[in-house]
Amino acid sequence: MRFQDQAVLVTGGGSGIGQQVCFAAAREGARVAVGDLDLERAEATAATIRGTGGEAHAFRLDVTDPASVTAFVAAAETTLGRLDVLVNSAGIREIVSVLDLSLEEWQRVIGVNLTGTFLPSQAFARRLVALDRPGRIVNLASTLGISAAPNRAAYTASKHGVVGITKEMALELGDRGIRVNAVAPGVVRTPMTERYFQDPVQAQVIRDIHAVGRWAEPAEVAHAILFLAEEANGFVTGAILTVDGGWTIGKKM
Ligand SMILES: NC(=O)c1ccc[n+]([C@@H]2O[C@H](COP(=O)([O-])OP(=O)(O)OC[C@H]3O[C@@H](n4cnc5c(N)ncnc54)[C@H](O)[C@@H]3O)[C@@H](O)[C@H]2O)c1
Repeated sequence: MRFQDQAVLVTGGGSGIGQQVCFAAAREGARVAVGDLDLERAEATAATIRGTGGEAHAFRLDVTDPASVTAFVAAAETTLGRLDVLVNSAGIREIVSVLDLSLEEWQRVIGVNLTGTFLPSQAFARRLVALDRPGRIVNLASTLGISAAPNRAAYTASKHGVVGITKEMALELGDRGIRVNAVAPGVVRTPMTERYFQDPVQAQVIRDIHAVGRWAEPAEVAHAILFLAEEANGFVTGAILTVDGGWTIGKKM
């Protein structure tokens, strides 16, 4: 098993992509720390893993709060006895025109998606450096970290920022044995996007923007995340792996 006895920490592990990362890592032998603002959802993820014979622990976590982040990393280390992988999957999105976007909405999205990637990554890397241990971080960017779509200014800016912090941390931490990569998914069917699929017109638009003619399931993104996180992938760092069904390669004519 690729993650046998390794400690895998997941922010936003109570739902969607993060939850599938928890499940997939546990199937590969990992011991999982599930962090989420919604403790009930984190507990449900952990209980599902324990129900299949795996090890998982749920923690309430607010990725925008430095004290909460430090406590999460410390509790995970104490509980699991080591630190190997951090996946930053906590995220939110607002759909509003740039002219109407309020400062409060802007700050909320940047706070969770960008600051909420920086803080756990920094806390995790600081502990690895203190322990003189290697580790891997995988961030959730997006196709909107590479290109743009209307009415998503804060989200697009936050995901471009995630691409930047991924490259920056990979550069600074590479010689400490810490690899930092990101995935850039297209549209993935999760609670965040579920509303799209209730509208047949919008669902068809979503099929059409992906070269493969469909949206992704969260387990497919989790698979790519674990590929970046696995030890065998030791020479991959600073990479932004598109998992986007061909969205960003170009438009169909
Ligand atoms: N679904 C998509 O189409 C898609 C595409 C590209 C990128 N992404 C990114 O993938 C990540 C996961 O998205 P998802 O679709 O699984 O969303 P989701 O809404 O299903 O899950 C997000 C989780 O993050 C948690 N969360 C929110 N704010 C938090 C905070 N302050 N602290 C801790 N946890 C918090 C939520 O409680 C939730 O459990 C996000 O970063 C998202 O931007 C999603």
